[in-house]
Amino acid sequence: MSSTDSVVLRARDIVKTYGATRALKGVNFDIHRGKVTTLFGENGAGKSTLMKILSGVERPTSGTIELDGEIVEFASTQDAAARGIAIIHQELSLAPNLNVRDNIFMGRELRTRTGIDFAEEERRVRALMQGLEEDIDPLTPVADLRLGQQQIVEIARALSINSRILIMDEPTSALSATEVEVLFRVISDLTSAGVSIVYISHHLEEALQVTDFAVVLRDGSITATANAADIDLEWIVRNMVGSDYDLGEPPTGYAFGDVALSIEHVSVADPENPERFVVDDLSLQVRKGEVVCIYGLMGAGRTELLEAVAGRVPIAGGRIVKDGVDISGLSIAERIDAGLGLVPEDRQRDGLVQTMSVGSNLSLASIGAFVRGLFLSGGRERELVSTMVRSLQVKTASGEAPIGSLSGGNQQKVVIGKILATDPDVILLDEPSRGIDVGAKGEVFRLLAQRAAQGLAVVYSTSEVGECLSIAHRIVVMRRGRIVVEFGSDATKEAIMAASGEAVVA
Ligand SMILES: Nc1ncnc2c1ncn2[C@@H]1O[C@H](COP(=O)(O)OP(=O)(O)OP(=O)(O)O)[C@@H](O)[C@H]1O
Ligand SMILES: [Mg+2]
Repeated sequence: MSSTDSVVLRARDIVKTYGATRALKGVNFDIHRGKVTTLFGENGAGKSTLMKILSGVERPTSGTIELDGEIVEFASTQDAAARGIAIIHQELSLAPNLNVRDNIFMGRELRTRTGIDFAEEERRVRALMQGLEEDIDPLTPVADLRLGQQQIVEIARALSINSRILIMDEPTSALSATEVEVLFRVISDLTSAGVSIVYISHHLEEALQVTDFAVVLRDGSITATANAADIDLEWIVRNMVGSDYDLGEPPTGYAFGDVALSIEHVSVADPENPERFVVDDLSLQVRKGEVVCIYGLMGAGRTELLEAVAGRVPIAGGRIVKDGVDISGLSIAERIDAGLGLVPEDRQRDGLVQTMSVGSNLSLASIGAFVRGLFLSGGRERELVSTMVRSLQVKTASGEAPIGSLSGGNQQKVVIGKILATDPDVILLDEPSRGIDVGAKGEVFRLLAQRAAQGLAVVYSTSEVGECLSIAHRIVVMRRGRIVVEFGSDATKEAIMAASGEAVVA
């Protein structure tokens, strides 16, 4: 075991209960000085709960925290920050209407004798962004940033605190490969300077690259700890889920039906520069029963394409045809009613109604746009909710629990379930695996394959090659708003990545 000196923070016997839920059942957890300690675990294992306790967001039901050998109690995040502990939240905690600068310095404004020193704040924000190699202006409202950029702002805010202990809860879920590389360089600079990092991610391979010490949490208890040098992916998964897993092979042997969705010469203008197209004269047809994967880097235009098909952004040219009928002129609600479903990229903004229960989110009954849901009877609704909760293995106390009480990954499962519950004929999924664990990913894939076998047309957008290879009948690669190449069973990881413009790492 490490000497006292090499451990900066010790949590002992931490218990946390929420009503009948025992989220943490007596956890001992060490943060190693100047190292990266990574916490692995399934959705709902208790990772975020433990981190919220260590950063003053939540108080433990019982247990102690020792910082540099001294017992401490945090009444608030400010309290923890004053002791040098900062956290990057899994669910972004930014105020969308404020600009980047004000989000970063909210509650900690820099002052001159006469007021807030905006100039100095701006200078610091620029320096932070430079360090993160990100071109984000301090005065941009956060609402105007894409999800990945918002995540960068969340990271910059934590970095601005100059903490000794920095907790990163899923910091990369919306970042591009390049942004992840930059973040890892920042992490390495920080640890060299003596900062201790706690890292959490469901991108297991990626996380292993930065990990010094690995800790696995399962169902509220620690199941394993190890030096990163002594473990591999299989070790992590085995300790996380208690068995091996397999994402499976793409379904084969189905005869596809007619064309369900036909995207014909569709263009979408760049909102910032209408001369440019983020989707550029793109055509794609998807048949009933077919799973088509759209692979591309962040910024390739995948989100804009799916949002255009769903009617969330206007098209500058072309048309969208579903089952032979031009739906380009229909509203979002009309498209949903016509059997088109979108699992959006940003679950907090577009996917869930945070003030409602798991059941209401799943059944849609109270959302005006989802017209079909209005006709569900109480009994039918309860049945639907329990079927969805079961088939996606959503970890929730009950259907009546507020959606905010679910772990991040379980909220994402509800977003997917909600769209499947509308019983669409065409489903569009935009990075649906964000924040969900390896086991849940397998569940989602099985469910989609099963629905496809019954005739559902699936369009699955992702920046993870492995997901394409596991789920798709056909893979199209998007780059700068266009489809540059298409693969069938001949797809390989290297060929897909090369086509996307990504450097292929051997
Ligand atoms: N405010 C709350 N009220 C009720 N239950 C909660 C609350 N916060 C968390 N829980 C429960 O505690 C358990 C652990 O959740 P936690 O968010 O810590 O999981 P996690 O390991 O971070 O999962 P994920 O990988 O999905 O983010 C879950 O069962 C969750 O539903
Ligand atoms: Mg979490």
